Amino acid sequence: MVNYSRYFLKTKSTQLNIDTMGKKFTTVDLFAGAGGLTEGFKMAGFETIAANEIVPTYSETYKLNNPNVKIFTEDIRNITVEQFKKECKINGKKVDVLIGGPPCQGFSMAGMRDPKDPRNSLFMDFIRFVDGLKPTFFVMENVPGILTMKTAKGEKVIDLICKEYERIGYKFKYKKLHAADYGVPQKRKRVIFIGTNTNKDINYPKPTHDKEAYKTIEGKQIKKWVGAETILLPKNKVPKNFFLSEKMINGFIKRREQNKKKGRGFGWQIIDPKTPCYTISARYWKDGSDALVKYSDKEIRMLTPKEAAAIQTFPQNFKFFGSKRDVYTQIGNAVPVLLAKAIAEEIKKSLD
Ligand SMILES: C[S@@+](CC[C@H](N)C(=O)[O-])C[C@H]1O[C@@H](n2cnc3c(N)ncnc32)[C@H](O)[C@@H]1O
Repeated sequence: MVNYSRYFLKTKSTQLNIDTMGKKFTTVDLFAGAGGLTEGFKMAGFETIAANEIVPTYSETYKLNNPNVKIFTEDIRNITVEQFKKECKINGKKVDVLIGGPPCQGFSMAGMRDPKDPRNSLFMDFIRFVDGLKPTFFVMENVPGILTMKTAKGEKVIDLICKEYERIGYKFKYKKLHAADYGVPQKRKRVIFIGTNTNKDINYPKPTHDKEAYKTIEGKQIKKWVGAETILLPKNKVPKNFFLSEKMINGFIKRREQNKKKGRGFGWQIIDPKTPCYTISARYWKDGSDALVKYSDKEIRMLTPKEAAAIQTFPQNFKFFGSKRDVYTQIGNAVPVLLAKAIAEEIKKSLD
């Protein structure tokens, strides 16, 4: 039996009204979802002035947490940059950083990786908006699979991205970052593209955490990765409906054995509370097999939405709109807030 500790992450949403230097840098968030990226940039002192998202339910979440930001709820493929600026009333406003995570389903190693998937071209819309809004920096987030993905013509997607940014006059770097290295209690790797059309530095945040806590980076002591136990609710506080039925547990065991015979991985993943949680995907709502809490062979449960949000380092007071399924999906889609904050702080240094 595992004894889970009972405290939640102390990441409060810090809303800086006035930047210490008297200047607030601005962001526009595309493919905003619930707003994980926005939240991290907000914590670092940025002000988001406009956003875009196709799914109305996700936009509602975004509005609940960012009531002063105009979010244009529309398929980005149907809107021009001029329409976006007009609708969001940002004509004439300088955009310091354009942020966004074009959908990655098509690129994801866990997904189909279908080169014909039209969603694969949504990053082209992101580039179109970089060209139109001319931000000083852009931050484009994606899954590691984007680095090996090929188009239907056999061209590497990453080469295409290089060509496109070069064409519009932006230099950029990309790097795979591990969320756990920035204090997120989750193993989640994401590729972060950072670009600029100026001669400002493009730097990535230095890790603050590591698997082992023995290193120092530039004189700073690295902390040990944060374990999932820091956000798990005590067993007696978890509603019964999050526990798997005997039928579901037997189904998982059967699937695991079938997979084993075929030489494939397990059908489910049990969280080790002492280490960061497995990646929470947008499909978590289905059966929670990404990451389950086990007390005994008969007592296995899913993470509650509140716990899943804490795994993604959303502040405790963050509100989600929609059904249970919608909420898990928005959480699984998000950029971990503390990872976004670390990236934002590094960009702020270059902008200052
Ligand atoms: C990976 S999620 C972004 C998560 C977000 N960056 C965060 O940190 O919470 C991608 C988002 O793009 C949205 N999306 C998909 N296709 C779109 C389109 N054609 N136009 C606008 N948004 C779209 C999805 O609904 C989803 O919310």
